[in-house]
Amino acid sequence: MAGVTNARREQYEKLDTIISRWKGEQGGLLPIMQHAQELMGCLDDEVQRYISDKTGASVSTIYGIATFYSLFTLAPKGKYKIGLCLGTACYVRGSQNVIDELQKELKVEVGKTTPDGLFTLDATRCIGCCGLAPAMMINDEVFGRLVPSDVPGILDHFRQKEA
Ligand code: FES
Repeated sequence: MAGVTNARREQYEKLDTIISRWKGEQGGLLPIMQHAQELMGCLDDEVQRYISDKTGASVSTIYGIATFYSLFTLAPKGKYKIGLCLGTACYVRGSQNVIDELQKELKVEVGKTTPDGLFTLDATRCIGCCGLAPAMMINDEVFGRLVPSDVPGILDHFRQKEA
């Protein structure tokens, strides 16, 4: 594993422990992949190949599982995960306009992360705040009754935390 940082090496060592716990068990690949994602932040090509080498499962099997379950991600998520609700109550109150504005402000499409690693933009189903429609969550924080003009100020609030 040439070129791997010490921090990354430690993550792989922890992953080795998990793999030795689950390797060979029926259905063991799923918990291995879940732990790998928790440790590494995502299941990118390198992590998929590592799990393949250590478990004997093919990369295509691992990739297939990673892309089938929505809990897995193939690329690192941003520090702030935006989940804009496109459930019915939010949609009829204009959440599409809000998500259009988010895409414009962040210069990324839904499902993508900004190049600075700060924001990941996702569309979600109902987040249980229909009375606040249209609503979104940024990490654990709820923002409701949104209009597109709210978007720049909300994003700035999080950008300023990093300044
Ligand atoms: S539909 Fe958006 S919070 Fe319920």
